[in-house]
Amino acid sequence: MQTLLNNIAAEMARVTERGHVADYIPQLAHVSAARFGMAVALPDGQVFTAGDANEPFSIQSISKVFALTLALGKRGDALWQYVGREPSGDPFNSIVQLEHESGKPRNPFINAGAIAVVDAIMMGHEPKEVLAEMLNFVRYLANDASICFDHEVAASELEHKHRNASLAHFMKAFGRLKHDVDKVIGTYFHQCALAMSCVQLAQSGLFLVSDGVNQATDSRVVSAQRARRINSLMMMCGHYDGSGEFAYRVGLPGKSGVGGGILAIAPGKASIAVWSPGLDRIGNSLLGTRALEMLVQETGWSVF
Ligand code: DON
Repeated sequence: MQTLLNNIAAEMARVTERGHVADYIPQLAHVSAARFGMAVALPDGQVFTAGDANEPFSIQSISKVFALTLALGKRGDALWQYVGREPSGDPFNSIVQLEHESGKPRNPFINAGAIAVVDAIMMGHEPKEVLAEMLNFVRYLANDASICFDHEVAASELEHKHRNASLAHFMKAFGRLKHDVDKVIGTYFHQCALAMSCVQLAQSGLFLVSDGVNQATDSRVVSAQRARRINSLMMMCGHYDGSGEFAYRVGLPGKSGVGGGILAIAPGKASIAVWSPGLDRIGNSLLGTRALEMLVQETGWSVF
């Protein structure tokens, strides 16, 4: 495994077309497209790494997996009154389907859906309390108490909030959000501004590898059925309108973020995190996808 990761990192270092770093959140635009990291965490607790695997980066939409897990724990199947579970086929920040579908977002991973999930988690609590709960949950999942929010990234996104604020107000107009719009999106921006390294991220995904149990820490996080369902949502919706392409090329449940990270789950085998900040035109990591494609080709870990 270590040799394979070294080979992938060496191959990625040679690539010159590395995609475009997200700049609609100005704080993310400072990150160099030359960075590359990868970590593979096995259920027995072993972690293999290559490149900048210990460098924290903005996990952005990958956080939506953790928020969904938390929301299902609080709401159970009632969560599906807030948000659907169908692929959208539209960009992550699209508003168009909301108008025809009475303000109910298609799935928990598009921005509108993730904002609705935050509303479902809040249950009358203040943003600070909700964020403390999210942070504790992610630290527990990754078994690492050093994970923090990057407040500069959150502030940068808040300053350029108009697109997400529009989605939230639109849903509020349909009576979909119970809480104050500013509080919901403020919480959502901080959630997205979680900073984690590939190692931390790979470790946080271990519960999805082994039917809801993190075997490395011997803790059951969710039921086996729930783990399978979260994986299916990642497979169908985790890369937005690029989800079909990701399933075709990589064949694993995966969740991307505009910080250039991808968390991919090989059920029964490994939790994999990769980071390369340059994005494709859809907003998914260009080299991250390519690296996962190489890994799966060599290991045969595709679920298909
Ligand atoms: O709301 C946003 O636009 C960002 N905080 C998250 C978007 C994102 O990561 C999309 N991923 N590829």
